[in-house]
Amino acid sequence: MKRSNTPSKLSPQRGARIALLLSGCCAVCTLTVTGLLPRPLFDALFLCGLLVLSARRIRVVLPHMTPRQREWLYVWVYVPLFCFFLPGSALWRDTEAGLGERIRTPAYVAVAFLFIAAHIFYFLYKNKPKMRKKIVAGNWKMNTLPAEGAELAKGIVAQRATAPAEVNFIVCPPFTHLSQVAEALKGSNIALGAQNCAAEEKGAYTGEVSAAMIAALGCRYVILGHSERRQYYGETSETLNLKMARAYAHGLTPVYCVGENLEEREAGKHFDVVKAQIEEVVCNLTPEQFADLVIAYEPVWAIGTGKTATADQAQEIHAFIRKVLADKFGAAAAETPILYGGSCKPSNAAELFAKEDVDGGLIGGAALKAEDFLGIGQGFAK
Ligand code: PGA
Repeated sequence: MKRSNTPSKLSPQRGARIALLLSGCCAVCTLTVTGLLPRPLFDALFLCGLLVLSARRIRVVLPHMTPRQREWLYVWVYVPLFCFFLPGSALWRDTEAGLGERIRTPAYVAVAFLFIAAHIFYFLYKNKPKMRKKIVAGNWKMNTLPAEGAELAKGIVAQRATAPAEVNFIVCPPFTHLSQVAEALKGSNIALGAQNCAAEEKGAYTGEVSAAMIAALGCRYVILGHSERRQYYGETSETLNLKMARAYAHGLTPVYCVGENLEEREAGKHFDVVKAQIEEVVCNLTPEQFADLVIAYEPVWAIGTGKTATADQAQEIHAFIRKVLADKFGAAAAETPILYGGSCKPSNAAELFAKEDVDGGLIGGAALKAEDFLGIGQGFAK
């Protein structure tokens, strides 16, 4: 007979824990039935057991839920708990029964409610993918010399522990520094990205740098469609489609930038502009490619100006972007990290990142100082 190589889900430790728990339960029940254990003590043990089980269920599913879903969980779990418990105990206040008798029924009702609610949420969310990646990416633009860049990268690595472990940091230095920065990042969990790549695979394209070249230097990401490239180097959706294809062909994850300029914002056209930038490029991707994409919303009027979009403005357009993506790619859009860019700094990161659809930042100026860059990542901890 063929033996299965799949390891059993019941490890010896888990089996022993379950056996211990069952024997404990049997012992407590026997002691109560024979009158050796007072009933209130039995109640307290039993209810505490249910509370611990419920709390464990909740802990397991929390990482699979969005902040909004968590709020619902808290409403369904905690508010009814108090509503049941407080009036419930008041109701029994005037009877002859002792305290234990008086609170028994409401306590059982409340804990049963919590237990059921925890299990409903558990079965609803346990198989859902974990929440979106949190990303803080530094776009160094045309700043620093190679040695300075390597120093900056070393500083970021040295202070990495000051920011929450679950934040994914990416640094995108100029092409000329990629090797040295890759060396400085070795052994750390900070990823390397480039700021651009050529639309062509290879050949007679003087001055261009191909996706294959940056991938060979250790890049995992590439910023595409940054507003400065659209504005100063005439990048269009047509070129960006080619660049995206090149990036995917070499295993790079594009950080695709969208955003309106001041005139467009003032004319109330920002939704249309961003929608077109997405539809003309992102909507041409295959579902597999789409699953490996980061979007950065960067209002041009906020880039390098010190003027930030308010957290509500950012949330409004991020949610809109997610809806445009969902119209094309369905549920997969819930997994796409959408970063905010434009004068993001340690002092405003927490407020921006607290918004449901803001999954991090694409940082320019503040990415040039290790403390500020990591300080932005700390925005996720607040
Ligand atoms: P900024 O730049 O943070 O300096 O405004 C952001 C960007 O252009 O990516």
